[in-house]
Amino acid sequence: MRQSLVAGNWKMNGNREDSSTLLEGILAGMADIKAEVAVCPPAILVPLAVEKLAGSSVKVGGQNLDYHVSGAYTGEISGPMLKDAGCDYVIIGHSERREYYGDTDELVARKFEAAQEHGLVPILCVGESLEEREGGTTEAVVERQLDAVLEQHGIEAFKNAVIAYEPVWAIGTGKTATPEQAQEVHKFIRDKLAALDAAVAEGCRLLYGGSMKPDNAAELISQPDIDGGLIGGASLKAEDFLGICAAAS
Ligand code: 13P
Repeated sequence: MRQSLVAGNWKMNGNREDSSTLLEGILAGMADIKAEVAVCPPAILVPLAVEKLAGSSVKVGGQNLDYHVSGAYTGEISGPMLKDAGCDYVIIGHSERREYYGDTDELVARKFEAAQEHGLVPILCVGESLEEREGGTTEAVVERQLDAVLEQHGIEAFKNAVIAYEPVWAIGTGKTATPEQAQEVHKFIRDKLAALDAAVAEGCRLLYGGSMKPDNAAELISQPDIDGGLIGGASLKAEDFLGICAAAS
């Protein structure tokens, strides 16, 4: 059985004060949560999150990394730095990084490898734009994004990785994929992994992301191939985030 995972992607939001309140709110509601829970704050708030969550089961992740270890890379943060700060996870290849910061499939594959090399579990994001969905190329796009990693690092790399299917048209728009639409792509992803290694496919957690809220989470997560969520907007309110965690429990 795959344990469900709910990860909050805070994106570029928060300061020390409101993040402290949010983290305290999450901690206060964790008693009944059986899903694994993680928060991915902006890098500068990672130490605060690690400190606040110490002794709890809530994990911390980064939102991005540079694949170099150290050196003259102004403004960047490496895998060893995230690990040293107390992160367990790191989001790789989020569509906002692909769209605004030039994260190509090739770069995403290098970041994925760097994450694992330094003891972080990558949450690899894949997903199509509205234009791609309407053009009927959803599966081709997702396949290309997965192949970029599979061709470099093989199916073995997915023994210790999470995949998040995030249709770009559903991110921050309030438009959620229907459970059927999401399940269809999740199944496509799992089948693709299974064609290479059935056991790895069976063990790999596939999250849905894109306007997931407490009121639509249960239906999405109850789909056979949806193992949790990667949550943007709703992860910034403890009550909403906990509602999704409860739905995943
Ligand atoms: P929203 O939940 O705000 O749509 O964002 C989803 C997302 O991008 C998580 O990584």
